[in-house]
Amino acid sequence: MQFFAGILTLACCVTLTAAAPTQRDLEYEYIVVGSGAGGGPLASRLARAGHSVLLIEAGDDQGGNYNYTVPGYQAAVTQDKSIAWDIFVNHYQDQTRAQRDPKYVYRLSDGSKYVGLNPPSGAQPLGILYPRAGTLGGCVSHNALIWITPHASDWNNIASITGDNSWSALNMNQYLDKVYEWQPRAPTDPTILLRDLMLVQHLAGGAAAQGVGPDPLAAVTGLTATLAIDPNSRLNPLRDSTQGFFQIPLIQQGGTRTSVRERIFDTVAKGYPLTVRSNCHVTKILFNTTGSAPRATAVEFLDGAHLYRASPLSGGGGIAGSARATKEVIMAGGTYNSVQTLKLSGIGPASELQALGIKVIKNLPGLGKNMQDRYEVPVNVVHPNDFALLDGCTFDAKPHDKCYQQWVNNPYILAQRGAYGSNGLAATMSVRSSTADDSNIDMYIFGGPVNFKGYFPRWGDAAVRDHKHFSWYTLKAHARNKAGTVELRSTDPLDTPKINFNYFDTGTTTNGADKKDVAALVEAMKLSREALKRYSNYPLGGTPFVEESPGANVTSDEDLAQYAKDVAWGHHACCTAPIGVASDPQAVLDSKFKVIGVAGLRVVDASVFPKIPGIFIQAPIMMVSEKAAATILDDAAKGLSGAVGGLTGSLGLG
Ligand SMILES: Cc1cc2nc3c(=O)[nH]c(=O)nc-3n(C[C@H](O)[C@H](O)[C@H](O)COP(=O)(O)OP(=O)(O)OC[C@H]3O[C@@H](n4cnc5c(N)ncnc54)[C@H](O)[C@@H]3O)c2cc1C
Ligand SMILES: *[C@@H]1O[C@H](CO)[C@@H](O)[C@H](O)[C@H]1NC(C)=O
Ligand SMILES: *[C@@H]1O[C@H](CO)[C@@H](O)[C@H](O)[C@H]1NC(C)=O
Ligand SMILES: *[C@@H]1O[C@H](CO)[C@@H](O)[C@H](O)[C@H]1NC(C)=O
Repeated sequence: MQFFAGILTLACCVTLTAAAPTQRDLEYEYIVVGSGAGGGPLASRLARAGHSVLLIEAGDDQGGNYNYTVPGYQAAVTQDKSIAWDIFVNHYQDQTRAQRDPKYVYRLSDGSKYVGLNPPSGAQPLGILYPRAGTLGGCVSHNALIWITPHASDWNNIASITGDNSWSALNMNQYLDKVYEWQPRAPTDPTILLRDLMLVQHLAGGAAAQGVGPDPLAAVTGLTATLAIDPNSRLNPLRDSTQGFFQIPLIQQGGTRTSVRERIFDTVAKGYPLTVRSNCHVTKILFNTTGSAPRATAVEFLDGAHLYRASPLSGGGGIAGSARATKEVIMAGGTYNSVQTLKLSGIGPASELQALGIKVIKNLPGLGKNMQDRYEVPVNVVHPNDFALLDGCTFDAKPHDKCYQQWVNNPYILAQRGAYGSNGLAATMSVRSSTADDSNIDMYIFGGPVNFKGYFPRWGDAAVRDHKHFSWYTLKAHARNKAGTVELRSTDPLDTPKINFNYFDTGTTTNGADKKDVAALVEAMKLSREALKRYSNYPLGGTPFVEESPGANVTSDEDLAQYAKDVAWGHHACCTAPIGVASDPQAVLDSKFKVIGVAGLRVVDASVFPKIPGIFIQAPIMMVSEKAAATILDDAAKGLSGAVGGLTGSLGLG
């Protein structure tokens, strides 16, 4: 750890004073901005092919932090000030409507935050917290570790939109193989979960609601077999439409979070020409505009820790610098931040840029539009007593945190690492709603001994404040709303952007899109209640419970729909720089990730999808990252590095 950290810090600058900018002469073949699911695997792959790569990351390495390594701290880690980028978003622009959500956050005059429905007068509305990570590995370093590969139709759709068959599901398989060269994944050892009979009783209820309930006389053995199904199996030809009940693979090895951060470290440690510049915030991409198309040639940045105002530790000044790319600049700052940096650099809707006095380099009206996400809703119950699984878990790594001691003291055998070897969301129902547009499943309904209601300040503490709650929580995939936007608030690169999701009827309504999504959520909550009803068919000693939310009085479809509209949230924002054909005025990238009409500039992160993929998003982003690396290396081999986006072949050579 210390050895690796030394290598990383070589290229990073931690001086925070506003000293005179130092003259630097940094030059690399490729500059990748952002080290998350999109940027990290890509930068590593390019360096492993022998190219000099500068990977710039606004945050720093937190690999020595237990919040990062321990799966059981997946909620705690999102509250860690050294990692968090707290972004506030609008689900609805109409604030009266937005403020019906009990997760709505206000800032009080003393600087503290109020969350809830009855703010004191004078409280300043902030919006809904959308956690992001400014750290090495990006959001992969603070996410819930869930590993679910996308549906074949997600890729085939891109192939059909662009006419580029390299996007076919069949061809994309090779990039999943590439990811699997370095990405381990395994579910929590079921013996950890099955020791808690009240939990078994709930999970058996969930399996029963899905028609695969175990024999009540042999619930534990029956459940073990059911849970063993691999939801990502590439051997099951009907995998995308398979309903059922199973455990979730996690990005972990032996109960320790292992992913993009480790891939980056391994690449550096093996001596490939990858330079990681952490604590460095890119503020602008520079272009050479003398040719027929603008060409990205360099980036400007500020060195310094926690510069971005989304960080709770922000406030310091940075030191300006720049770096040149002889081949290409690749933006991988994520759905919000790639859009922000591109717009600040003169790429995007001309009218929005001009209104802020930004010189337009390339008018791309579709950048920052088309934003999509899942819809998620909870059904939560409370018992009079604790779940045994969580005995001794205080989620704070203090000496009294017995679950942490168990995790630390048993590093080699997953089954013995205890509750913290799990992300707390034990198992899922996999469901196709009646409004699904095709044969694919479109909902996961997770069950776990937590009180999960979505994101708000200190949500992680609230989720495990007591050990008496159980949640069935739904994630509705293939949601139809494409009306989200990311716009500049100001020209200050350290300011957060304005983010509007325009939920449900305030967004996409074509062909009843909004109503179909709400109807699916209502179905999911009814199915969650069905699972809670089946709980009593498994008399394993679990106590009765009371439903807290939506609450026993919320029963009609209409009331459930209103509840969903009030409280729904998402955490897979994407699609703000969509791939398309150059003839589509809303397309931002061509099928090779190149910014249309610009040379030497690509985007590789969650923003590239025309349509939100799959059920979970990190797997498709990592596959895209590996595909982008192959595309970029292929272009380099053909002498096409830096070609203009939207053109093909040698025409693109600027
Ligand atoms: C709480 C939470 C839980 C989640 N759980 C799961 C899960 O279990 N499974 C799953 O599949 N997905 C999950 N996700 C989603 C998934 O982790 C993200 O969608 C994914 O990491 C996005 O990848 P990305 O490359 O687009 O961006 P990110 O991973 O966010 O990476 C972007 C990186 O760029 C850096 N950056 C941005 N702008 C700049 C700049 N100007 N200069 C320098 N650096 C910059 C950021 O610091 C960041 O490190 C979760 C997300 C959240 C918020
Ligand atoms: C881990 O996160 C918690 C917030 O959930 C924070 O209080 C704690 O200080 C963090 N630990 C470290 C080592 O940063
Ligand atoms: C800008 O590009 C032109 C070719 O279009 C080239 O001749 C010139 O040297 C470039 N300028 C710089 C500063 O790289
Ligand atoms: C259910 O009861 C709660 C708490 O009393 C109340 O706030 C809510 O409005 C009720 N909902 C419905 C649909 O009656």
